[in-house]
Formats: sequence, C-alpha cells, structure tokens
Amino acid sequence: KNEMRRLLKYERKVESKRIKRKKEHERRREREKAMEKASEIQLSRFARSNLKRREVDEKMESVMRNDSHALVVCVDLSWSHSMNDKEINKLASQLGRLYGSNRKAEAPAHVYFTGFKKGTLIWNECHRKHNGFNEYKISMTDKSPIEMFNNENIIYLSPDAETALSNVEAGSVYVIGGLVDETVCKKLTLDAATEHGICTRRLPVKEFMKKSGRHKNYSTVFAVNQVFDILLKYHSAKDWVEAFKLGVPPRKGYVFNDDVITS
Ligand SMILES: C[S@@+](CC[C@H](N)C(=O)[O-])C[C@H]1O[C@@H](n2cnc3c(N)ncnc32)[C@H](O)[C@@H]1O
Repeated sequence: KNEMRRLLKYERKVESKRIKRKKEHERRREREKAMEKASEIQLSRFARSNLKRREVDEKMESVMRNDSHALVVCVDLSWSHSMNDKEINKLASQLGRLYGSNRKAEAPAHVYFTGFKKGTLIWNECHRKHNGFNEYKISMTDKSPIEMFNNENIIYLSPDAETALSNVEAGSVYVIGGLVDETVCKKLTLDAATEHGICTRRLPVKEFMKKSGRHKNYSTVFAVNQVFDILLKYHSAKDWVEAFKLGVPPRKGYVFNDDVITS
C-alpha cells in the first residue's frame, strides 16, 4: 500500500513538473513573438523615416538644380566680425531652424549661404552644432551676393529700409543679413547694401500691424529664421497676414490693424 502511495506521489510530481515546463515554454515563445513584432515595427518605422528623408532630399536637390519658380533666399554670412561669440552661437542655431523650416516646406526655397568662409567663427559653430552639416541641401559659397547674382535681381532685406517689400517673386534673390544684434546696431545692412547700389526693402509689418499698447518694448527687427519663415509663407500663400500670423511672435508687441481680417 505504501509502495502504491509512493508511486502515485512520484507520478503527480512528474506530471506537475511537465506542466510547469510546458507553461514556461509557452511564456518564452510569447515573449519571443512580442520581441519579433516590436523589432518589425521599429524596422518599418526606420524604413519609413529613411524613405521620407530621401524624398525631402530629392525635393531640395531638385530646387537647387532649377529654381526658376522657387523662392531664392540668400543668407549673407559675412558679418561675423560684427558679432560676439554668444551672438555667433545664436546665429548658428537660427540657421539650423531655418534649414528645418525649409525641409518641412511643401515648396522649399533655394537657400544660399554666401560669404561663408572656411575657418570663420560661424563656419566652425555651424559644423560643431549641426550633425551632418556638410550634407545640408544649401548652396554654400565664400563669395558675396554681388559676386553670385546680378545686382538688379538682389533685394537686400533690412528693417531700416524706407520702402516696404510688396511682393516676393521668382527671379529675385532675397538677402537676409546673417546678423544677431542683441544690442541693436541700426542700419548695418542698409548702409552696406546702399553703398553697393543694391535695392533694399523692409518687411511690410507696419502696413498690416500696429503697436498693441500693452507691451513695454516694440520691435520689428526679426531673427534670421523668422524672416525666412515669413518669406516662405508669403511665397506660398501670397498673403502677408498669413505670413505675419506665422512669423511675428506676440512678444514683438505688434497686433493686426482693426481692418485686417485675420480669420
Ligand atoms: C536680427 S536682424 C539684424 C538687423 C541689423 N541691425 C541690420 O542692420 O540688418 C537680421 C536680418 O534679418 C533681416 N530682417 C530682420 N527684420 C527685418 C525687417 N523687419 N524687414 C526686413 N528685413 C529684416 C535683415 O536682413 C537683417 O539683417
């Protein structure tokens, strides 16, 4: 009888071990399946983002080959000597944002960096700050805008210009001064452009906006990337209100005129 009980106990033990092993095996299989699925998802996400990156690269290379219908913007990076290290650092960040905006645009602009000399502070800072900067789809040259383009096609944007820009057209080159002036140095770009007989224009902010009356400081001097965003938006929407809605931050103190329809 004892022998029978021992045998029964032994068989129960073996059976329970077998069930335990089977459950463990099933759990392991499920874990492996879940891992396979996660890595498949990751792989397809990676493939999708790679494809998207290649599509954007191709779109930008195509506008660099033929910009006859595109917005052409040139950032004049020959102003390093007028800035301190902190301002150069900020300018490099703004150039990164400008490039990011252009990559996201439905119709990207052909962007030039002119006066971009190897070994200058802004050159070094751009390479230090931005991964893969060498691969950026931007036409970079150490030449000046007047060496690159016909004088009569150049419009140098300056907040101090007398005349407002009325339109943005293919065939013109819109030059933005590569400047960050924390302690505002007025008329730097205006004087330099005028000296070379280049047309200057300011953004038509005051034609559409007025001082809010609630701010301490008011400014219509924008950062390089903000000017770029405004131009890009105007070029696609042909509407200054849309462009300023996107590009003029509320802290500048300006609000739309009462007769401007903003909806
Ligand atoms: C931070 S601003 C530098 C302003 C600088 N004091 C100057 O003399 O041009 C950087 C550049 O953005 C462009 N910009 C900024 N605000 C502008 C405006 N309201 N109208 C036209 N261009 C503007 C100009 O090309 C300018 O050189």
